[in-house]
Amino acid sequence: MADKSGLQLVGELFDPASRADPYPIYAEFRALGPVWIEEISSMVVTGYRDCDALLRDPRLSAERRRFFQPDEAADPYPPDAPSSVRQPWFLSLDAPDHTRLRRLVSKAFTARAIARMEDSIARLVDELLDRVADQETFDVVSGLAYSLPVAVICRMLGVPSADERLFHRWSAQLTRMLDGFPSPDDRNDEIPEWVPGMVDMHRYVNELVADRRKRPRRDDLISELIAAEDGGDMLSHDELVSTIVLLLVAGHETTVNLIANGVLALLRHPAHLAALRADSGTASAVVEEVLRYDPPVQLTARLATEDLHVGKVKLPAGGLAILLLAAAHRDPEANPDPDRFDPAREQVRHLGFSAGPHYCLGAPLARIEGRLALAAFARRVREPELVAAPPYRGHINLRGVSELLVSHAGVTR
Ligand code: HEM
Repeated sequence: MADKSGLQLVGELFDPASRADPYPIYAEFRALGPVWIEEISSMVVTGYRDCDALLRDPRLSAERRRFFQPDEAADPYPPDAPSSVRQPWFLSLDAPDHTRLRRLVSKAFTARAIARMEDSIARLVDELLDRVADQETFDVVSGLAYSLPVAVICRMLGVPSADERLFHRWSAQLTRMLDGFPSPDDRNDEIPEWVPGMVDMHRYVNELVADRRKRPRRDDLISELIAAEDGGDMLSHDELVSTIVLLLVAGHETTVNLIANGVLALLRHPAHLAALRADSGTASAVVEEVLRYDPPVQLTARLATEDLHVGKVKLPAGGLAILLLAAAHRDPEANPDPDRFDPAREQVRHLGFSAGPHYCLGAPLARIEGRLALAAFARRVREPELVAAPPYRGHINLRGVSELLVSHAGVTR
C-alpha cells in the first residue's frame, strides 16, 4: 500500500469518486509520513502532533494567496469591483494585521453574545422540523443542515431574510476558493469561478453597511462591528466589509456539513442515535466526535516563510504545508481505534476548528447549532432511515453531501 507516491495519492483525492470516502486515501498518506511533493511544491502532513505543532508555528504563514497568486499584479477582479474585494479576510492574514482585526471582531462576536442566541436557535430548529413533518421523506441538507446556519448568521448580522437566498449561489462559488488545495489547473485559470460570487457579495454588503451607518440598530452584529473600537483603533470600511463577507461564508458553508455529517453518522450507527434520543445531554459529545470522525473542514494550509523540517523531511521556504486535519484525527496515537465512530470515547482529540492563532472564531456558535440540531433530530424524527447513499458535492476541503434523504415514521411535536 505504501507503494503509491504522494502525487498519485493527491490525484486520487481529486477524483470525484473518492469524495464519499476519502479516508482510505488519508490512511495511505499517513503511512507515507510527512511527504514533500515536488510537482506541486507542497508537503502533505497527516500526523496529529505535526499538524497541531505547525498550526501554532510562527514560521508558517496563513497568507496562502502568496502561493496561489504569486504575481500580485495578476488581480482577478474586474475594474469596477468595490475596493473591499481586495482586502484579504483575516483568516488569511498573519500577525500583526490578523491579531488586530481578530481582536476588533472578537469584541462583537463574543461567546456571551452567541450563548444569548441559544433559545432562538432552538426555536428555529423546531420550526424547520415542523416544516418537513408531513413529508414522507425529507432532505436533511435543505430542510435543516443548510437552512439553520444560514438563517442564524443572517439574523445575527441583520441581513433581511428575503435576501438569504441571494447568498446561496454567491457563497457556493466562494467556497471553491476556500477549498484551498493546489490543483495545477487552478493556478492557470484566468478568472477563477469564485470571482463573480465574491464581487456580487461585496457589492451587496457594501450597500448593507452604508444603510447601517445611516440607521444603526441596537441588535445586529453589523452595527456592533461598525461601532467596535479598541484603544482608538477601528475597522476601516474595507476591513469591515471583508470581515462581514467572511462571517457570512463561514456561517453558510461549514456548519451545514457538521449537521449533515452528524445525521449521516448517527443513521449509520443506530445504537448511538438511540443513545442520543434517550439522553439529549450527550449531544455535545456527539458533536465533538463528528468533528473528529468526519470533519466539515478536512484540511488547511500554511506557507513556509523559512526552511524547516517536519520530522526528517525538509519543507523549503515558499513551500506549502497541506495539513490534512481529517487524516490527523485518525492518527491512532491521538485517538485509539480511530476509524470507529464512538461519541462515548474517553477523550476526543481533534483539530476540526484548527489550533493556534486562527482557531475558529465561530466555534461556540457552530457547537450550539450542531448540538441543538442533532438532539432535535434524534428526539423528534421517529425511526429515521437513509433512503440511499447520499451524493457528495465536489469540494475536497469543505467536503459534504449535497442531499441526505431520510424516510421516517413521523415527526413528533
Ligand atoms: C462546524 C462548523 C465550523 C467549522 C468546522 C469551522 C472550522 C474552522 C477552521 C478549521 C478554521 C481555521 C482555518 C485555518 O486554521 O486555516 C476556522 C476559522 C474561522 N472560522 Fe470557522 N468553522 C465553523 C463554523 C464557523 C462559523 C459558524 C463561523 C462564524 C459565523 C466561523 C468563523 C470563522 C472565522 C471568522 C475564522 C477565522 C479565524 C481567524 O483566522 O482568526 N466558523 N473555522
